[in-house]
Formats: sequence, structure tokens, C-alpha cells
Amino acid sequence: MTSASVPTLPGIRPLREREFADFQAFIYKEAGIFLSKVKQALLVGRLSRRIRELGLDSFAAYYERVLDPRYPEERIELINSICTHETHFFREPRQFEYLEHVVLPRLRVEAEAGTRPKRIRAWSAGCSSGEEPFSIGMSLLAGCPASAGWTVDVVATDVSTRVLDRARAAVWSLDRSKHIPGDYLKRFMLRGQGEQQDKMKAGPELRDVVRFCRNVERRPALPRSARRRAHNLFPRRALTRAPCTHSETKNSWTAACSACWSSTTRRSSARR
Ligand SMILES: C[S@@+](CC[C@H](N)C(=O)[O-])C[C@H]1O[C@@H](n2cnc3c(N)ncnc32)[C@H](O)[C@@H]1O
Repeated sequence: MTSASVPTLPGIRPLREREFADFQAFIYKEAGIFLSKVKQALLVGRLSRRIRELGLDSFAAYYERVLDPRYPEERIELINSICTHETHFFREPRQFEYLEHVVLPRLRVEAEAGTRPKRIRAWSAGCSSGEEPFSIGMSLLAGCPASAGWTVDVVATDVSTRVLDRARAAVWSLDRSKHIPGDYLKRFMLRGQGEQQDKMKAGPELRDVVRFCRNVERRPALPRSARRRAHNLFPRRALTRAPCTHSETKNSWTAACSACWSSTTRRSSARR
């Protein structure tokens, strides 16, 4: 894309190459998101409203604002504006099939044999507005129920405070329910009433097992071999070590990742 295809906006000086390079480097450093040159139009589109809101007239002036230590919240605002939050419930059906039909049965067998605790922790890294961690929560609660002695814990993180607020509320428009299997919808979701009738909310059983915190993934923490396997299974996901589980065993890693993870963990632990 040439600079000719980067939109110009009335009242804001057109984005210069140097300015784009500054934002590019800053966003990469802050959030690990690399905006290639073809993303110049996206940057312009995403930042122009904020530049106007602040009464500024150029991207350079906005960049100065972002760096200004008097406005630390502007860094978060910038990252919030840049992130893309495309998501829906059970977004990658084959991954959930794998989780439910391969990973969880294996964990149940191991637990019955006494070789692992009846505890599963999953991590949704880049959880957006919550559809992914709540989908994982539904699969885990259904496959490894508390009534059989299991404890389920889903940690959900994202760099964007805006989507985390929405995820914590756990309320979605009813049309988001179309990807949720009927039995899960009935068991785990509450339907709104009155003014809320076009909404649904995660029920208490599900809300209890999912917790959120802001976290910026800067680099993958899995060994390269595990990353490759994880990528084959979860091409659009960042699968890395959850910071709150760093001192624990491989059982603390995401359940969804455990099938591809177990053999490589053994190999890399042996090397340590
Ligand atoms: C396209 S959404 C995917 C949501 C969900 N994982 C799914 O597949 O349905 C990507 C999410 O990752 C978040 N994200 C991007 N870079 C991140 C980083 N470096 N650290 C944490 N979250 C990040 C974005 O804010 C966004 O909400």
C-alpha cells in the first residue's frame, strides 16, 4: 500500500513516515504488536478520533502526549485503540473438539490412575471480551465436573483494559449465543428479562471459574518445539506460560495445550 492510500483527515496533518515509525516502535515495545507499513491506514483510522478528542492537530502531537509522563493512561488508551478484538464463543470448533474428546478424557484417565490431581487450570491469553475463556470454562466444567471432585480455574488476560471491562461484566447480546452448544447455553447462561431481554449473562457456576487480569504478552515463553506444536493446534492463539503459574508443574499449563505440551515438557525439564 502506498502512502496515497492512507486517508487524510480534515484538521489533522497527514501521517508522516517518521511519525508512523515512532508509533510502530512504541506499540511493538509496549504490547508486542508489530504494525507493518500496510497498517498505516489502520493507525490513522484508529487514532484520529482520540486526536480530535484531545484537540490536537497532528500525529506527532499525539505521540508527544503518549510519551508525556503526566498522562500515563494515554499509553493504555493508545494500545486499546490499536488492538483488534475479533472473537466469538467456541471460535475454533476443532480446538474445542480436541479439548473435549482428546485432552479431557486423557486427564480423567490420569486422575483416576492417581498420576495427576483433579485440577485443571487454563489460560486464555488475549481473551478479548471474554467469549474464549468462558467457552473454555464451559468445556472444562462439563468434562471435569465439581461433582466428580474436579477444580477448574480459567485465567483470562488481555492487554486492552476496554475489553477486559466488558469480559468481566460477562454480558453479551443474545445473538452471540448462536455458537454455543444448546446444552451449554441452557446450563451456563442466563437470559435477560425486561429491558435486558436481548442479552445473556454467564451464570454463577461459570463466572466462578473465570478470572481476569491485564497482562501484556511480550514474547512466547514456551520452548520452540512446544511453540511449533501449539501453533499447529492453535494457530491464532498466543500460548505461553501464565505468569501466576511460573513456579508450578506442567499441570498448571493450559489444559488445551497439555496434550502437545507434556512430551516437550519432559524433554526440556530433562535438559535443565
Ligand atoms: C483477535 S482477538 C482474539 C480473542 C480470542 N483469543 C479468540 O481467539 O477468540 C486478540 C486479542 O489479543 C489481545 N492482544 C493483542 N496483543 C496482546 C499482547 N501483546 N498481550 C496481551 N493481549 C494482547 C487483543 O487486545 C485482543 O483482544
